[in-house]
Amino acid sequence: MIEKVQAYLKEVDGFSSNSLEEIEAFRIKFLGKKGVLTALFADFKSVPNEEKKAFGQALNQLKQSAQEKVDALKAELGSDESSKSSGLDLSRPGYPLPLGSRHPVSLVRKEIVEIFSRIGFTVSTGPEIEDDWHNFTALNFPPEHPARDMQDTFFVESEDEMALRTHTSSVQVRVMENGKPPIRTISPGRVFRNEAISARSHCIFHQIEGLYIDKNVSFADLKETLLYFAKAFFGKTKIRLRPSYFPFTEPSAEMDVYWGLETEVDKRITKGTGWLEVLGCGMVDPQVLENCGIDSKEYSGFAFGMGIERIAMQRYGITDIRMLFENDVRMLEQFKSPWS
Ligand code: DAH
Repeated sequence: MIEKVQAYLKEVDGFSSNSLEEIEAFRIKFLGKKGVLTALFADFKSVPNEEKKAFGQALNQLKQSAQEKVDALKAELGSDESSKSSGLDLSRPGYPLPLGSRHPVSLVRKEIVEIFSRIGFTVSTGPEIEDDWHNFTALNFPPEHPARDMQDTFFVESEDEMALRTHTSSVQVRVMENGKPPIRTISPGRVFRNEAISARSHCIFHQIEGLYIDKNVSFADLKETLLYFAKAFFGKTKIRLRPSYFPFTEPSAEMDVYWGLETEVDKRITKGTGWLEVLGCGMVDPQVLENCGIDSKEYSGFAFGMGIERIAMQRYGITDIRMLFENDVRMLEQFKSPWS
C-alpha cells in the first residue's frame, strides 16, 4: 500500500508543465473530489493498525506536495504571462540617473555669497524689471547720464517708463528704503545692457552687489572687507584701490588683486600688468543715503559691485562669455563635482 503512495509522490515530484490545462488535469487527478488522494484516504480504513501511522504521514505528504506543485507551476505561468503581455521585466536593474552639474556662474555666485555670509552679510534680491528711480535717480545718475541712453538700457514699453535693470545697485536702494541700519547685505542677480554680443560682453550677465551701512563706517572698513574677500576667493594677499568714478559713491575706486607675473597665464590674465581688475566700490554718497531715507549725518557706508561672468571666466579659463549662455551640455558637464 505505502509503495503505491511513494510511487505517486515520485510522479508529483517529477511533474512539470507550462500549460494551464495540463496543470489543471494534474490537479484534478490528485486533488479532485474523485482523485487519487480521495481514493487513498478511503483505503486508509483497510490499512493494518501498525502501518496506519506511516501510511497517514505518507498520504499527508503526498497531498501537500501535490498542492505545492500546482501552486508553484501556476505562479510561474502567471508571472510569465504578465511579463509577456506588458513587456515589463521587473528583475532588470534600474537605469542610472544622469546627474546634472552646477553652472559655473552659480558656482562662483555661491562661493562669493558664502564668503560674505561668514562676516555677517545676508542675501537680498530685487526685481529685474525696475523703475527709473531705483535704477538711476536714487543713485544720483543725472538726467543726461549716458547710462540712461537707449544704447545701454532696455526699456520696457509701459506708461511708467520701466526698464530692465542695468546693475544690481538698484537693490541697494530698495534695501535702504525698506530697512534700518545697520545693514550688511549682498545682492546677486541678473542684469541687462543693450550691448553688442561678443566674446567679451553680453547683453545679459550677473552681478553681485555689496552694501554696508552703520555708524562710523570708514574707507578703511571697505578696504579690510575687500582684502578679506580677495584672500578668501582668490587666495591672494595684496589688493590696490585705484581712484574711479561712480555717481552713487564718493570717493569711488576700482579694486585690483595682485596676481603676479610668474607664468605665461599670469601675464595673459593680467594683460602683462600683474594686476587683475575685480570690482568697483566706494563710500555711499550722502545724497544717496538721503534719497533712501537714511540720515547721512548719523550713518555712513560703503558699497561694491562685481560681474560674476568675468570672475568665472578667469577662474575656469573660459575664453568666450557666450559659452556661459549657450547651455551646451558638453561644456557644462565639465563642472561636475561631488560636492557642488
Ligand atoms: N553698478 C556698477 C556697475 O554696474 C558697479 C558698482 C560700482 C557697484 C561701485 C557699486 C559700487 O556698489 O560702489 O558697473
